[in-house]
Amino acid sequence: MPRKIILDCDPGHDDAIAILLAHGSPRIELAAITTVHGNQTLAKVTRNALGVAAVAGITGVPVAAGCDRPLVRAFEAAPEIHGDSGLDGPQLPAPSLELDPRHAVDLIIDIVMSHDPGTITLVPTGALTNIAMAVRKEPRIAPRVREVVLMGGGVHEGNWTPVAEFNIKIDPEAAHIVFNEPWSVTMVGLDATHRALATDQVVADIARLDTAPAAFVGELLAFFGVMYQESQGFDAPPVHDPCAVAYVIDPGVLTVQRAPVDVELQGALTTGMTVADLRGPAAEDCHTQVATGIDTERFWALVLDALRRIGDPPQ
Ligand code: BDR
Ligand code: CA
Repeated sequence: MPRKIILDCDPGHDDAIAILLAHGSPRIELAAITTVHGNQTLAKVTRNALGVAAVAGITGVPVAAGCDRPLVRAFEAAPEIHGDSGLDGPQLPAPSLELDPRHAVDLIIDIVMSHDPGTITLVPTGALTNIAMAVRKEPRIAPRVREVVLMGGGVHEGNWTPVAEFNIKIDPEAAHIVFNEPWSVTMVGLDATHRALATDQVVADIARLDTAPAAFVGELLAFFGVMYQESQGFDAPPVHDPCAVAYVIDPGVLTVQRAPVDVELQGALTTGMTVADLRGPAAEDCHTQVATGIDTERFWALVLDALRRIGDPPQ
């Protein structure tokens, strides 16, 4: 049985690849794609999500826009990584899907409440604003969700500050809510995703697929590579968001450790840091775990397999 997920994202180069991986994997059924402010404004990332859905040939999946700003703090985008559009590089096709009229928060609640308990997995790959709002508006979703597998945070690494990762840093109050709800949370943070590098070999393997979606990914990675080189000195760009989707497809892709996680909200230097307690075995009732490593070969094999299955969808 494929796992039903709601992909809550802010495309975003790596979010776009996460959408393609989720759509192309036979082990995932996309119940919805929801968007949230983050890499760029809500309007831009929502337009990008629809464009990526057109590239992938996605039909019959609701796409809904959510919160356009963090719960408490001012909106902050990442043009130095994702450009002015949020998805600079490739030419985006016109949308082939209509935007769902519901607010993403309501769509998330509707989907979770209308499915059997334990069947919907939330996969947030942006700020956690929509997810926090959903669980505050309808707390009954918490015990119904199978698990939350989020890209964000880091135990030993930061990227937006020395100790904080972008998705958590831009809305730490939302992250605080999500980590403290009693659902099962897997934090797929920088300790894993900084190792999921799109090396020259990976780029060549993708190019060899010779399809329009693969060419699109190639253009995404070319832009992403330059930005990561210039802004953070990476020789190959880390492709964060698909790592969370990959874990849902095949948990063996990541090494995980059960540990309590909380989010720093007050630190003069550490706001947005995910503080994981890795001392000794976690308590029986600990509901959070963190990724500490990744099997990169297994990860890229999943991405290539998904792109191969998507092929060249009719446009
Ligand atoms: C995260 O920040 C965003 O820029 C990426 O899309 C990813 O979700 C990495 O820190
Ligand atoms: Ca993202």
